[in-house]
Amino acid sequence: MRRVVARTDELAPGQTKKFLIDCDGEEVEAFLLNYGGELHAYVNRCRHVPMGLDWVENQFFTEDGRFVQCATHGAYYRPETGECVAGPPCGRSLLRVPLHIEDGGVVAESPGSFPDE
Ligand code: FES
Repeated sequence: MRRVVARTDELAPGQTKKFLIDCDGEEVEAFLLNYGGELHAYVNRCRHVPMGLDWVENQFFTEDGRFVQCATHGAYYRPETGECVAGPPCGRSLLRVPLHIEDGGVVAESPGSFPDE
């Protein structure tokens, strides 16, 4: 299943937007981010405990904007790869949501499954 989740010019660098996507036959929350002008999207599920990363709604970036942070135990993920570089799930990665640009829209594809769940 694919879904238009934003306009290409909707998010400025440092901004994020949540959306729903089908994952393994289940609708899950995901988020789109603009990191240095590049768009990436991930399922909103920490690789430590399977829960959302944001406590404050739609607040994913660290204050300095360099990492995506899990609010529960403070894990740091690289925005451009989803890889966890500090915290309990270190070495694991967020589940990437594939994106395509079509007619000025950002189209999200269903991600695959979590590797070890
Ligand atoms: S739930 Fe995310 S670091 Fe523990």
